Amino acid sequence: MNITIPATRPANPRFSSGPCAKPPVFTLENLSDAPLGRSHRAAVGKAKLKLAIDQSRRVLGVPENYLIGIVPASDTGAVEMAMWNLLGQRPVEMLAWESFGAGWVTDAVKQLKLDAVVRTADYGEIVDLDAVDFDKDVVFTWNGTTSGVRVPAAFEIPADRAGLTICDATSAAFAQDLPWDRLDVVTYSWQKVLGGEAAHGMIILSPRAVERLETYTPSWPLPKIFRLTKAGKIIGDIFEGATINTPSMLCVEDYLQALNWAESVDGLKGLIARADANAAAIHAFCDSRDWIANLAADPTLRSNTSVCLKFTDTRITDGAAFAKAVAKRLEAEGVALDIGAYRDAPAGLRIWCGATVETSDIEALMPWLDWAFETEIAALQAAA
Ligand SMILES: Cc1ncc(COP(=O)(O)O)c(C=O)c1O
Repeated sequence: MNITIPATRPANPRFSSGPCAKPPVFTLENLSDAPLGRSHRAAVGKAKLKLAIDQSRRVLGVPENYLIGIVPASDTGAVEMAMWNLLGQRPVEMLAWESFGAGWVTDAVKQLKLDAVVRTADYGEIVDLDAVDFDKDVVFTWNGTTSGVRVPAAFEIPADRAGLTICDATSAAFAQDLPWDRLDVVTYSWQKVLGGEAAHGMIILSPRAVERLETYTPSWPLPKIFRLTKAGKIIGDIFEGATINTPSMLCVEDYLQALNWAESVDGLKGLIARADANAAAIHAFCDSRDWIANLAADPTLRSNTSVCLKFTDTRITDGAAFAKAVAKRLEAEGVALDIGAYRDAPAGLRIWCGATVETSDIEALMPWLDWAFETEIAALQAAA
């Protein structure tokens, strides 16, 4: 069989699900305004941090009465800070449909030793959201990065819930609409949809979350790096750019540049449209092939950022080896970097479709999937 090499290559082969591709306009020279070698507590540093908070609010449409803070240890730091500060006052439900959500379950059950209701679903599926009791505190991931499953747009968290909703939105923020009035804690990292740098997390708190912080003291110790209150009051300065410890001003500058780019593409609306167009190009490809499919069978669950695919051809005997070989071949050709499925997820491919990825690059990649698939099948048959 003669397998033709596609004529066009993606201009940018970076399809990693984190750190994600830098914005198309990124250059190192754009970071020259970073106040390097200066204190983050000097006026210039604090102004940059405050700007990062204000601009995040503007692009994401975060309500004015919600607090936004820059915190240590990326999204993981932000989620764990929320869990350690807020949980324990009332019953808890933990929801998980992939690896990161499962990690938060471990935190709650094994580390905090909470007697939580745990709802889990297999990769590609989601838990029964209608069964969730939102009068408890609920911890969940909006977009499961390792399974490509997100909370469906039609699902409504009750407005009159008694519990808090703690939402890891790291692969959803800047790509999907988030119902702010139904979310009490939202976290994300700069390294995801905006293609920023890792290590800095964002925590967004509703007035109800702040009220909990000021009226409840957990029974377990809180390290300094997690502490958001002092003498029963929220430390307001954290949410004005006075970070708990020292941030990288180079990363802050990079995040500011990414936010500027986000505003240049029509803000959140433009970012969502870009991710939707990217995911749609992959969905159309899968629909026209009988050997590859979305891990999420239900279209309403499909992510527009971390698109997870599985090979369905019956000639494939070792799915993991096949997927690995396809990803390796594409990487060797320099057309797709880092698209193997997450290590704990079912075998397959995961192609990042967030806003920093150009649709023309996704489109250029698709014929290469044909090529790599056919080449691997031919290799299997030759070996048989
Ligand atoms: C859903 C989800 N939660 C948490 C994380 C951890 O993020 P970080 O490494 O930025 O802490 C990731 C990273 O991919 C993720 O996708």
